[in-house]
Amino acid sequence: MLVSSKDLLLDAQKHGYAVGAFNTNNLEITHAILRAAQANRAPVLVQISAGALKYAGIEFLPMIVAKEAKLVDVPVAIHLDHGPSFDSVVQCLRAGFTSVMRDASKLPFDENVAEVVKVVEASHAVGVPVEAELGKIGGTEEHVVVSEREASMTDPDEAAKFVDASGCDFLAVAIGNAHGFYKGDPKLDFDRLAEIRERVSVPLVLHGASGIPDEQIGKAVRRGITKINIDTEIRHAFATAVRAYLAENPEQIDPRKILAPAMQAMQAVVEHKIEIFGSVGRA
Ligand code: G3H
Ligand code: ZN
Repeated sequence: MLVSSKDLLLDAQKHGYAVGAFNTNNLEITHAILRAAQANRAPVLVQISAGALKYAGIEFLPMIVAKEAKLVDVPVAIHLDHGPSFDSVVQCLRAGFTSVMRDASKLPFDENVAEVVKVVEASHAVGVPVEAELGKIGGTEEHVVVSEREASMTDPDEAAKFVDASGCDFLAVAIGNAHGFYKGDPKLDFDRLAEIRERVSVPLVLHGASGIPDEQIGKAVRRGITKINIDTEIRHAFATAVRAYLAENPEQIDPRKILAPAMQAMQAVVEHKIEIFGSVGRA
């Protein structure tokens, strides 16, 4: 069933688990995510970036997700990931998203606040919650490219001011997490996370969670992370499975046969994440 992202995340926050937010670009990824959620009785967010909307069409991709969400009996939310502008948010509100992110984290504090306030006014008018980001998460996710030099951690005092001033419903934090695969071992700053958690009451979001070891994810959830974003590991599972299948079956041209093992591999990734996030059986 299609539900409000806010209900999902507030329940997770209350009961001390996290909900997975998995990126989709097409029918096969959406199937893999929702089959994993259904098989584990887990609530889930399916998130779509501006790049994915451009690739698959705003007329199609949200409808595929919404249709499939209505067919499963676990709670599913549809979320705009890293919304690059006010206009992109409004388009998603019209397309039936149940939450949106406005990512203005590259802008100075006051401009970031101002951008989020605009989006909060429009989104709340139609009952849709808003995610915003403070601090700069390093790495590359679609159009969001932040070099190591530019990356900066979220300041706990600023986080409290930001949430109050912007009215955002969920806050994405930079605590040593980065988009894409990590160079070396990721080291999340758990003290910083605990300080942010103390000062901020809204659900906290961990971006760039692909490649973070399971025990660090578990600790992040215990320290108050409620929404966890995964994209790269799903893409990796997809590409690895397609390569392996075609290496063994070089004559195969049927896309259904080529994509079946990829769907299974992506489902396995999502199922594992759902387990370490603590969301199995929460639906
Ligand atoms: O917004 C999406 C993500 O933060 C996903 O990050 O590609 O490192 O898993 P990832
Ligand atoms: Zn992200």
